[in-house]
Amino acid sequence: MGNRRPFIAGNWKLNGSRQSVADLASAICTADLPETVDVLLCPTFVHMSDVLAVASNSAVQLGAQNCAIHAHGAFTGEVSVQMLSEYGCEYVLVGHSERRSLFAEDSALVASKCAAVQEAGLTPVLCIGETLEQRDAGQVKAVIDEQLDAVLGTAGVGSFASIIVAYEPVWAIGTGKTASPEQAQEVHALIRAKISALDPEIAQSLRILYGGSVKPDNAATLFAQPDIDGGLIGGAALDAQSFIAICTAAG
Ligand code: PGA
Repeated sequence: MGNRRPFIAGNWKLNGSRQSVADLASAICTADLPETVDVLLCPTFVHMSDVLAVASNSAVQLGAQNCAIHAHGAFTGEVSVQMLSEYGCEYVLVGHSERRSLFAEDSALVASKCAAVQEAGLTPVLCIGETLEQRDAGQVKAVIDEQLDAVLGTAGVGSFASIIVAYEPVWAIGTGKTASPEQAQEVHALIRAKISALDPEIAQSLRILYGGSVKPDNAATLFAQPDIDGGLIGGAALDAQSFIAICTAAG
């Protein structure tokens, strides 16, 4: 984990009722979370104000799962970063593999979203990672390069001073197949080295989260790796006790 402040983000995806999400947020926000860890919850847009109502009395921060690239205009169904900001949202997940694969978001669009988030003064959590097919074909580095180059090309290495990267191998998301700590560390080191070649100082402070079937029983060994600075948690974030245990493992 180096000397970077650990960061744990819960991505609730498309889950929960208004009541169950409020209950879950309340259980997490009133828990005894380690003060040394940044904790973020990412509900759906409509659940955001309910989550903020409980989170604002705690150190837990609010994030969104997606955003528009436009600030306003004729874009039916979209939500802008400026609107999210008004609701107390401080982070936005961009480029989650489900957005890339199910909603046809390519790296150029993800880079535009990343820029839109930063221009509005919020922090992007930039998700990158390879599919199993790409891993088997020996393309991990090429995929990571392509996904990072899109953002580097749009906003430059300086933008990484306030980006959080989440490495999420697609084959590990929601499958119960976690990358081994060594497999994850290898890619995290590769990501940091790529940024370091452009700006060593930014690379040193860049937080790189691991995501993909993180559970209370594998969290500590993952977070013990030198370049893993926390986690992006899906399934286990839907259970308050599991999520709290993962936050504790990062503390
Ligand atoms: P998972 O999801 O923890 O359920 O694998 C991670 C994610 O999609 O961010």
